[in-house]
Amino acid sequence: MADLSQPPLPQPHPAKQQVAASFSRAAASYDSVAQLQRDVGQALLARLPAPLQPRQWVDLGSGTGYFSRALYQRYPHATGVAVDIAEGMLRHARPLGGACYHVVGDAERLPLRSASAELIFTSLAVQWCSDFAAVLDEAARVLRPGGVLAFTSLCQGTLYELQGSWQQVDGAVHVNRFRAAQDYQRLCAASSLSTLELQVCPHVLHYPGVRQLTHELKALGAHNLNPGRPSGLTGRARVAALLQAYEQYRGPNGLPATYQVVYGVLGK
Ligand SMILES: C[S@@+](CC[C@H](N)C(=O)[O-])C[C@H]1O[C@@H](n2cnc3c(N)ncnc32)[C@H](O)[C@@H]1O
Repeated sequence: MADLSQPPLPQPHPAKQQVAASFSRAAASYDSVAQLQRDVGQALLARLPAPLQPRQWVDLGSGTGYFSRALYQRYPHATGVAVDIAEGMLRHARPLGGACYHVVGDAERLPLRSASAELIFTSLAVQWCSDFAAVLDEAARVLRPGGVLAFTSLCQGTLYELQGSWQQVDGAVHVNRFRAAQDYQRLCAASSLSTLELQVCPHVLHYPGVRQLTHELKALGAHNLNPGRPSGLTGRARVAALLQAYEQYRGPNGLPATYQVVYGVLGK
């Protein structure tokens, strides 16, 4: 199923190398803080069409392989391929099973044969892809007729409390940028796949303090990697100002962090 005839991109985008390195570093800590990721992926599994019985599935942006193992349990007779841009994540996932093959690859340029899978499952990975149209084109190429692309991603409004608090402190980009929900709608509609379901659901997590939130983002490998992010250490005074600014959002359950999650199920 893996297709090595696709030459690697001549000059990988540096941002992708950073994303891969950041997630590779986070492989050991990821599972201990990934409750939201598990909840979102489970909700995506629940949205898979019941009659779908893939012979081959792809877990794209598979991370530590939590959902590769869930897909294996759901489809024990199928062949699974885990694809991730971060080699460190695949190294971590491989001994834990689930997928038969673990392949380093980019969702925008899949190292997989055309018409080779009935299901591409991808949870909370494609928000890292600047070209979502390319992700959809690649999914359409790799799926067999009748196949399904099931994805979750994050859209604008995600971590707005953290971004708003930093905005008050220094106006710099401290939170990853996310596509608008309408862009997901437009790009899915423009693709060759048919949209069976597309929905945005907010998930709100609560933390006792900002440090717990930023620690978690770092342990996930999901802290800010945007160009234009402030470099170097964050000064003590600025951190104090951030903690104070975030307090405006505090509620009875603590400090909220909102994730706007896009759920999409598309058919070929
Ligand atoms: C937040 S983790 C999600 C992992 C897993 N799907 C889960 O739900 O637990 C995002 C994963 O996507 C991978 N990723 C990011 N950009 C990617 C790309 N362009 N192609 C393939 N994988 C990518 C990261 O390396 C990381 O392992």
